[in-house]
Amino acid sequence: MRRLAEIPESFFRPALADVVPYEPGKPIETVQRELGLARVVKLASNEGPFGPVPAALEALHRAIGDLNRYPDGGAYRLRAALAERFGLDLAEIAIGSGADGVIGQLAAAVIDPGDEIVCGWPSFPSYVIDTKLRGGSPRLVPLRDGVYDLEGVLAAIGPRTKVVYLCYPNNPTGTINAAVDLDRYFAAVPEPVLTVLDQAYFEYVDDPDYVDGVERYLKTGHRVLVLRTFSKIYGLAGMRVGYGLGSASLIRELGKVRRAVDTTLAGQEAAIASLGPESDAEIARRARLCAEGRARLGEILCENGFAPLPGVANFLFAQAPCDAAALNDALLREGVIIRPMGAFGAPGAIRVTVGAPDELDFFAAALPRALERVAAIGP
Ligand SMILES: Cc1ncc(COP(=O)(O)O)c(C=O)c1O
Repeated sequence: MRRLAEIPESFFRPALADVVPYEPGKPIETVQRELGLARVVKLASNEGPFGPVPAALEALHRAIGDLNRYPDGGAYRLRAALAERFGLDLAEIAIGSGADGVIGQLAAAVIDPGDEIVCGWPSFPSYVIDTKLRGGSPRLVPLRDGVYDLEGVLAAIGPRTKVVYLCYPNNPTGTINAAVDLDRYFAAVPEPVLTVLDQAYFEYVDDPDYVDGVERYLKTGHRVLVLRTFSKIYGLAGMRVGYGLGSASLIRELGKVRRAVDTTLAGQEAAIASLGPESDAEIARRARLCAEGRARLGEILCENGFAPLPGVANFLFAQAPCDAAALNDALLREGVIIRPMGAFGAPGAIRVTVGAPDELDFFAAALPRALERVAAIGP
């Protein structure tokens, strides 16, 4: 007989009461097992379709024998490699368990109960969740035509605003603001506010109007934390390594709230190896393939009655021409995991990640069947 002590919600911090935990995309194995499918393609979590680059795989093999050791909590070698790449000092680089880990560190370092953050909406849910967990209040500024409304963001800044999150490109819409508008924002944002420029998808973007936040804003004295990650084009989402680039005074405070060993030894080694010069050609190849795949994905969606937004990263967002939850369900039965956008604040929409060419073939075949299935069920 087992009887575990239940603990009522009132025992926990009130700030947790209206927090809805982030729900990741469904794992392939779960869908395969639950629906008994031979093949399942996951286009749900904006992961890269390719694994770690060859040098990272070799580093991972080498690291396996050392896993009895704790990693370097300060991630010295990884920060040194990043410092060299970006022309920054070691003290200007924070490492986290994914870029998400850095978002959590920032909330822990700056948000007191009653403090506010401003971000566009729909956007990356962690900005909101981590703020609420600290007792802070997110001010959500609706996107305008699917793009961050920077004037609206500036107007939403109040006396308690500590952080503005600009998701660039925005997840889930994949859109970017024009450089001139971003420049105008940085010229206008009031002094006490820290802007987080989230560039998780930086390496994928080939739009000529897309700017490098490190060169354009960080190195020119703006109060900004630029986020990047190894989870996307580097194919290391499962390793959980991301980073933030900012002034030493900011990074020092993030270091105080970071857990002592936040990233894994294998993750650090794989990330360091990914930055080697021999990886650059592979990363460029992946960016090219992504651009081709994004165009193809756009065609597939348009042919099936969707009007995707002009995304520039490795995913596209569109209002569904039918019930989005039903479409998600029908696609799961076809063996395709996409992301319905309810949790991101856009219940009628879907987001589809650019997969490898054969995954897009699979999606192209599955989508019309799924739409038929939804139509057959009716509203
Ligand atoms: C905009 C944005 N920021 C941050 C992240 C977090 O990435 P990670 O924690 O895997 O580095 C994601 C992941 O999807 C994202 O879309």
